[in-house]
Amino acid sequence: MKRLVSGIQPSGSITLGNYLGAIKQFIALQEELTDTEFFIFIADLHAITVTQDKTQLRKSIRSLAAIYLACGLDPEKVNLFVQSEVIEHNQLGYIMESTVYVPELERMTQYKDKKLKQQAGIKSNLLTYPALMAADILLYDADIVPVGEDQKQHLELTRDLAIRFNSQHGDTFKVPEPLTPKIGGKIMSLQDPHKKMSKSDENPKGVIFLLDDLNVIKNKIKSAVTDSDTRIVYDVENKPGISNLLSIYSIITGQSISEIEKTYANSNYAEFKANLAEKLVEYIRPIQERYQTLLASPELDLVLDKGRDNARHIAYRKIQKVYKRLGLGRIK
Ligand code: AMP
Ligand code: TRP
Repeated sequence: MKRLVSGIQPSGSITLGNYLGAIKQFIALQEELTDTEFFIFIADLHAITVTQDKTQLRKSIRSLAAIYLACGLDPEKVNLFVQSEVIEHNQLGYIMESTVYVPELERMTQYKDKKLKQQAGIKSNLLTYPALMAADILLYDADIVPVGEDQKQHLELTRDLAIRFNSQHGDTFKVPEPLTPKIGGKIMSLQDPHKKMSKSDENPKGVIFLLDDLNVIKNKIKSAVTDSDTRIVYDVENKPGISNLLSIYSIITGQSISEIEKTYANSNYAEFKANLAEKLVEYIRPIQERYQTLLASPELDLVLDKGRDNARHIAYRKIQKVYKRLGLGRIK
């Protein structure tokens, strides 16, 4: 059996970028990859690399679990769990810190970006974050890691660390492969199509949250920044605004970009945006309805308990092996 591992941070609300770049992939893959075990988790330990409010964090963890299920994650096929409930993530995270070098961490683009935003000081785990992320993946000997484009650099580092550990201590970890979607790997802000759509955007009009009021979603699409001429064609370089909207349209309808360009050859931006707004809202509506039901149901905890128990079983054995390789503790 192969294994697939991925996680999303429960910091803030889930965006359309998270959905199209990550969650939608998990859902498609659970149908396609019948020979693969899935481990999908809520990366709450990663969230505390920046200051979090306890009540809000607790709420976001449950909310994210309900979103995963509402989007179609099948708990029969997928082990869904909360990262901090499987302590081996911390244990291997620490060991990965002894495998990675500081300059490798300092080179990470996400660290460099996030560091600039920390007015209250940079926590040391903002720097060491990729060591924990490597642990998340290597703990389960993942073959495949579906992520958005912004995580590829962390995945490259994970691969380097697996190879380094294996060569220093003997074959221990599988070297994982990243998997990014062909379209949707990087959904851009609706207000600045040169920036990725991000939970922490200062301008909320640039970000669609999956749980936004449906009218708000419509308005955000309608007021999305487009480009200077009026043609609806895909050209990321010269027309990033409309290209981003075309990507969203393509993913939610399943139509190819060229089909959509043909349909709208004689339309203006306003017509195109109005149609996209309608389609997106109809796409998100059932997800929001399922979300509300799931959030209130006892099923959520049962799913998370089962996911945690299955994950622990594997993670425990892996940590025993790693400790033995390193000479830690008193394991014979
Ligand atoms: P995060 O919100 O940083 O925990 O990201 C969770 C997952 O969503 C990761 O796989 C990211 O690569 C993906 N992701 C985040 N923002 C975007 C975006 N704007 N477009 C595509 N994927 C994204
Ligand atoms: N770092 C990822 C993000 O911010 C979330 C994450 C944590 C993750 N651990 C992971 C993704 C392991 C894939 C595999 O988007």
